[in-house]
Amino acid sequence: MEWESVKDSWALANQKKIPCMGYGTWLLSGEEAVDSIKKAVRLGFRHIDTAAFYGNEEEVGKAVQQCQDEGIPRNQIFVTSKVWNDNRGYENTMASFKKTMERLKFQYLDLFLIHWPASENRFENWKELNAGTWRALEELYEAGKVEAIGVSNFKPHHMEALLETANIKPMVNQIEFHPGFWQKETVEYCKRQEILIEAWSPFGRGAVLEQELLKNLAKKYDCSTAQICLRWELQHGVLPLPKSSNEDRMKNNMQVFDFSLTEEDMKQIDEMPICGFSGEDPDQIEF
Ligand SMILES: NC(=O)c1ccc[n+]([C@@H]2O[C@H](COP(=O)([O-])OP(=O)(O)OC[C@H]3O[C@@H](n4cnc5c(N)ncnc54)[C@H](OP(=O)(O)O)[C@@H]3O)[C@@H](O)[C@H]2O)c1
Repeated sequence: MEWESVKDSWALANQKKIPCMGYGTWLLSGEEAVDSIKKAVRLGFRHIDTAAFYGNEEEVGKAVQQCQDEGIPRNQIFVTSKVWNDNRGYENTMASFKKTMERLKFQYLDLFLIHWPASENRFENWKELNAGTWRALEELYEAGKVEAIGVSNFKPHHMEALLETANIKPMVNQIEFHPGFWQKETVEYCKRQEILIEAWSPFGRGAVLEQELLKNLAKKYDCSTAQICLRWELQHGVLPLPKSSNEDRMKNNMQVFDFSLTEEDMKQIDEMPICGFSGEDPDQIEF
């Protein structure tokens, strides 16, 4: 696989195109969110990641509308949102999706995800809950309201349980993935199932950028440690979602298409000890 820019697309299992790097929006709000997203799109990002939980869907919708007014059509910007944990189950998910679309003011959504699986430690009926949420996503997909559907933070056992009743296989699994924490078992499982992995916190929320190995590699390749992370993720066939509200860092994050890491350097990063982990295990979370 070789790519030239963040605008280059990969294909999901249903052949829907997805730009190979997305712009993360967690913790962006108000005017800062609108301005940052517009900056990111002007620079070349064509993929925006939001969620009902982030409280910024309205701002995402506003920014996309303003980009459209500047000549970048809605259908050139891929937007993802997610249903939050307090809206699991068929009815709640349908109602939550309606609100998401009212906030975004879109005719369709590119990708809709289940934000976190219901898990066994909190819900006796976790399988039924996830199956009900998924049935809503399938219905929205079949009605053409969303062009792709998927999950987030699902481990193989959550996925296996979902597939027992699913009619459509998730096309995406968005998980925590960065040097020092990359969930190899989940990644290998999803690759076998042709489910695209997206990397949330591709820099471990900034926590891995000071790692010695990454700093040495940045010197070797004459780039930033952030670029080493993104390049390692792309070369794993994983789609990163870097967040930055700073224009220079946005530009830096986009410039990862003129070099590649050797197999040996990929392996060195693969083997880094655990670092930067958020501590959010989908089987243990209390939210
Ligand atoms: N599905 C889920 O459960 C889930 C969970 C968490 C996150 N996400 C998604 O993933 C996205 C990214 O994750 P994240 O926001 O947690 O963290 P992240 O992208 O790993 O890290 C963001 C931090 O890195 C800094 N940064 C960005 N580019 C940099 C660069 N080139 N050099 C140095 N520092 C840089 C940012 O600061 P500045 O802004 O100051 O540049 C910010 O402090 C989120 O925004 C969200 O869309 C999803």
